[in-house]
Amino acid sequence: MKVLVTGGAGYIGSHVVQMLIERGYEVVVFDNLSAGHAEAVHPQATLVVGDLLHKPDLIALFEQHRFDGILHFASHIMVGESMQKPFKYLYDNVVGVMHVLEQATAHGVKRFILSSTANLYDAPQVIPIREDEPLIPGSVYGETKFMAERMLLWMDRLYGLKSACLRYFNASGAHPDGHIGEDHHPETHLIPLVLQVALGQREAITVYGDDYDTPDGTCIRDYIHVLDLADAHILALEALADGQSRVYNLGNGKGYSVLEVIETARQVTGHPIPTVRGARRAGDLPVLVADSTKIQRELGWQPEFGSLRVIIETAWRWHQTHPHGYRRDERANPEG
Ligand SMILES: NC(=O)c1ccc[n+]([C@@H]2O[C@H](COP(=O)([O-])OP(=O)(O)OC[C@H]3O[C@@H](n4cnc5c(N)ncnc54)[C@H](O)[C@@H]3O)[C@@H](O)[C@H]2O)c1
Repeated sequence: MKVLVTGGAGYIGSHVVQMLIERGYEVVVFDNLSAGHAEAVHPQATLVVGDLLHKPDLIALFEQHRFDGILHFASHIMVGESMQKPFKYLYDNVVGVMHVLEQATAHGVKRFILSSTANLYDAPQVIPIREDEPLIPGSVYGETKFMAERMLLWMDRLYGLKSACLRYFNASGAHPDGHIGEDHHPETHLIPLVLQVALGQREAITVYGDDYDTPDGTCIRDYIHVLDLADAHILALEALADGQSRVYNLGNGKGYSVLEVIETARQVTGHPIPTVRGARRAGDLPVLVADSTKIQRELGWQPEFGSLRVIIETAWRWHQTHPHGYRRDERANPEG
């Protein structure tokens, strides 16, 4: 099978690409490298540098390749930024997916995987969160994923494009051999920020709120290892052969508090990782954990790297070997 991975030079996409190659897929990555890294793309994948917003790039791509499936990761990803710059998110994320869908349907592609988000569940009634919770996007970013999911309903009905929407919270960890990992600028995710303290790149980590109704007072979140995510994306792609579109939540089944993350990082790195007490952030819910029973039952997916310690150990290996991410040479020699 030949598949297109949009955003395949990014954090999650690059891990999915590697796993696809290992499982015998032919992979074409389409990425504008605005947040991704050419070095992150597996050498056996074809990297096409282009922009989803620039239709001619996509037209040329689909003229050159015939795809059996598409995994769509390319988007802006920061919840906070989406509230400051709503039009950047509404325009780029929505038009981006629309352009891909336009080409996919014109060329008869029948399988589509959307990297969606659990930010669609802003007012969960039951935790862990199931797929049938009301869909209430918690940000403009979440709204753009909601709109993409809605478009996919119509693509199925009108063109028979079968899709799987995968909703998850915090992708984390890195490939265990440490050659690819998370390199976001700016970094907004807790685990890499904590590890930047251990690397001496930050003085301390701020804990936003320690008076929540949780056992240690800090927010509990669901961290899912990037390779478990990759496995789920590929299982979902293969499952679409049965002609049924679907939606799955992905999570560890277990949440970890901010203090648990910091404590585990102290154990893994041997660094004291000082903390600073900060005020609660607007909109933060005390506990967000996804229920992934449905994908486990239907596709046999099982998180293999579920323990927080393993997640942090693999992330630490990546950060230790790439303290400045992929762009280390650029930074070492900014004139060059
Ligand atoms: N990281 C998480 O915790 C998380 C959680 C839930 C969902 N997601 C979703 O997973 C996907 C990947 O997230 P990530 O953390 O790997 O992000 P990332 O920023 O590392 O990867 C996104 C990639 O898309 C590319 N891209 C962005 N706009 C593009 C455009 N217009 N044309 C071509 N390429 C473009 C970027 O260069 C980058 O390589 C995103 O869609 C995100 O919304 C991420």
